Amino acid sequence: MTDPPLDLSEQIKAATKDNHVRAENTQLMLSYQKGQITLVQYKVLLCSLYEIYKALEEELDRNASHPAVAPIYFPQELARVESLERDLEHFWGSEWRKKVIVPAATQRYGQRLRKIGRENPELLVAHAYTRYLGDLSGGQVLGKITQKSLGLISKDGLSFFQFPGVSSPNRFKQLYRSRMNSIELTEEEKAAVLEEAVLAFELNIQVFDDLQKMLSVATETVNQPSDRFPAAILRSSPIL
Ligand code: HEM
Repeated sequence: MTDPPLDLSEQIKAATKDNHVRAENTQLMLSYQKGQITLVQYKVLLCSLYEIYKALEEELDRNASHPAVAPIYFPQELARVESLERDLEHFWGSEWRKKVIVPAATQRYGQRLRKIGRENPELLVAHAYTRYLGDLSGGQVLGKITQKSLGLISKDGLSFFQFPGVSSPNRFKQLYRSRMNSIELTEEEKAAVLEEAVLAFELNIQVFDDLQKMLSVATETVNQPSDRFPAAILRSSPIL
């Protein structure tokens, strides 16, 4: 007797288990877990999240009626772009659009999302899963840590972590998994989705690592100007 084939939601979780551990152990996420996230780190993280969600949500919107997207299309409950815009305005001021700075890894992530949105929309589920289910899981704890670490009294600037359209994250995650499992995919497409989910985690890891590098270079050079600092980062980044 052979075991019944695993559902997509189980397969994707198993396929990305090691990558999840790696993501949790990036320097940025470790600082987070130790309650050591700084305002500067959070502000630049918001910029990258904005670029990522803008690409993801534009592609999901454009492909909303695609058979592999429609079942997992929940803009009312999940969309993050508007909440990120509110948070960015809160921390960067009304001119925030001119100040958004992102490292190369964030640009690569956005480009990947736009490419699959155009060419292989069935792979978008891998990216939506990685971000949204992450936000509804560990992300909920990270929201509380952010508030505490930054000493914020109100929830202003923390909209990203709030999902007013989701009353129970756990029940919503169950619904999301069952919708993922209802997507009809060929074996080949399923394998490609699993591979894309691994890539999605890797892209996130690269963004975290790049942000960390960008901040350490900028901090170093503010303290100790030298001819090797990337002027562009500092010019466009009045907070640093
Ligand atoms: C699930 C913690 C970072 C993506 C979870 C769960 C926890 C968690 C506790 C629930 C596990 C379960 O229900 O079995 C954390 C912590 C992190 C972190 C503490 C960093 C400090 C990330 C990152 C990503 C991510 C960076 C991706 C960008 C996910 C996904 C799930 C998840 C997709 C859902 C897994 C599933 O049920 O299929 N995380 N996480 N997490 N996390 Fe994370």
